[in-house]
Amino acid sequence: MANSRRDKADSFTKKAHKEGYPARSVYKLEEINNAHRLIKPGDKVLDVGAAPGSWTLFTHRELLKGNGKIVSVDLNPLSLDPVPPTVTEITGDAFSKEVRARLVELGPYDTVLSDAAPMTTGNRTVDTSRSERLAEEVFHLASEQLKKGGNLVIKIFQGGGEGELLKKMREEYAKAKAFKPKASRDDSFEIFLIGLGKK
Ligand SMILES: C[S@@+](CC[C@H](N)C(=O)[O-])C[C@H]1O[C@@H](n2cnc3c(N)ncnc32)[C@H](O)[C@@H]1O
Repeated sequence: MANSRRDKADSFTKKAHKEGYPARSVYKLEEINNAHRLIKPGDKVLDVGAAPGSWTLFTHRELLKGNGKIVSVDLNPLSLDPVPPTVTEITGDAFSKEVRARLVELGPYDTVLSDAAPMTTGNRTVDTSRSERLAEEVFHLASEQLKKGGNLVIKIFQGGGEGELLKKMREEYAKAKAFKPKASRDDSFEIFLIGLGKK
């Protein structure tokens, strides 16, 4: 079992590097988008928790086909070289007063993606409550900054209030559901909440 988990992790990591992506997380977005068609060429996308940059690069290459805009924000810089021409990179805390104001200035958005995660401590209670706070912040930002009909993806650690958040999403979006990509590590307790068609 442990070996099969490692093999799966390794095969996604190898594939990501071969295809020029800095992290295996790219395949989670690919699965989410294959299931829900979130983004199309010409869209403006906000990518929260974007570093090292796999979701941003996949959005640029495969979803926007180089046509559209991506605002990528993270505490750390992207490790993409070069940073694609569709991308405006912002380094900082997405929810600080200054950065949030800049995100609002660059909005509104057709889709908001968040793969943001706290630094994990190994203490599940602490980690899930930090993840819940991040997810709530992203939800509020999307409430203000998504266009009508827009889509939202939020990562949250299970056990971190995902049921409550999903309930709120059902009120604001035509459809909302939880999604666990196959590309998530077997031992990961992350889940993605997807809101489609902001009312
Ligand atoms: C799992 S990584 C994202 C991987 C990324 N989606 C990719 O495909 O390369 C989670 C990221 O969330 C970022 N993050 C956590 N809290 C944040 C915050 N308050 N503002 C901006 N980024 C944050 C971390 O710095 C980290 O880079």
